[in-house]
Amino acid sequence: MTDPFAAPAPGTAPVVGHAHGKVILLGEHAVVYGHPALCGALRDGVTVEAVPGAGALRVPQWGVTTHDVAVLLGADPPQERGAPSPLPLDAPLSSAYRAILHELQPDLAAKSQDAAAALRYDLLVRFAIPQSSGLGSSAALAVGLARALDLLLGLELPPERIAAAAFASERVFHGSPSGLDHTVAQQGGFGVFRRQTGLIDVPAAALRLCIGHTGRARDTRGRVARVAELVRERPDRSAAALAEIAALVEAGTAAVRAGRLAELGAAMSRNQELLRELDVSCPEIDHLCDLARGAGALGAKLTGGGGGGCVIALARPGDPVAEAQVLSAWTDAGFRAFVTTVGGCA
Ligand code: PMV
Repeated sequence: MTDPFAAPAPGTAPVVGHAHGKVILLGEHAVVYGHPALCGALRDGVTVEAVPGAGALRVPQWGVTTHDVAVLLGADPPQERGAPSPLPLDAPLSSAYRAILHELQPDLAAKSQDAAAALRYDLLVRFAIPQSSGLGSSAALAVGLARALDLLLGLELPPERIAAAAFASERVFHGSPSGLDHTVAQQGGFGVFRRQTGLIDVPAAALRLCIGHTGRARDTRGRVARVAELVRERPDRSAAALAEIAALVEAGTAAVRAGRLAELGAAMSRNQELLRELDVSCPEIDHLCDLARGAGALGAKLTGGGGGGCVIALARPGDPVAEAQVLSAWTDAGFRAFVTTVGGCA
């Protein structure tokens, strides 16, 4: 993986916006209902560079370039030019970009700025994390883009305006998200997120996680809708599952603070069982979890929306071959896998 936060090579365009990817260790889906989630930023994420142009958004990894900003902000704007996104995004990139620009209209007006006239750069997006995988790439894109626009247009936005712009984009991609993804993308760090309080830091030693990819795009919108259906159809059982997930977040957070990683691993595996009950797993996720536990992992679960995307596994700490065993179990079965670190401020 390239390091998105490294200084740009001499002669290249300056990096003007960046943001982190994320993992959810415990608590996805329950977090939508106001429960807490334990989550951390990935060091890698998204960078947005200014290159000469007129405000188009370019995502070479998707083969997509939007129209220039003047066209995008005009009446009845067209969608992407070129091929449609190869990824199963819920809405086109142009709509998310437009949502950010619309959200920033008052900020632009306050500075007597007109994005269409002032934006003399295209914005070139580079992902250093897998996309559509439950690792927060769309939120990192939104935060990176808002930061790039802030710098290029001299808006001097406070953090809450960057957050509002990113959330506008996230609503386009995901409908009605909890806000966890763009908060972690913007703030980085490691902690407990709640809709009501935002992200509260949890000081903990760095945690190494194995990440395995199902090879399928995650289905956040569909799985969030499925949980909502279950909450309507069998309210007592669903509420009990969500409450147990919340209790696992509390217990897992205490375990992380105290460095009791076997307890964290057990909480992750129980969280996965409850996520299966809520119908947000899939055969590949179950297989990756079984392989990880069979290879000695302390715990394993999906991360993010589920229905595809990534699985995280906690290997036995202090054993140099433990991580390698989990990774080989996955790669031998044909899955892509890597190791990452979250936390690290104890
Ligand atoms: O799939 P992701 O990375 O967008 O994560 C979704 C996490 C959920 O809890 C399922 C939804 C949300 O809005 O928090």
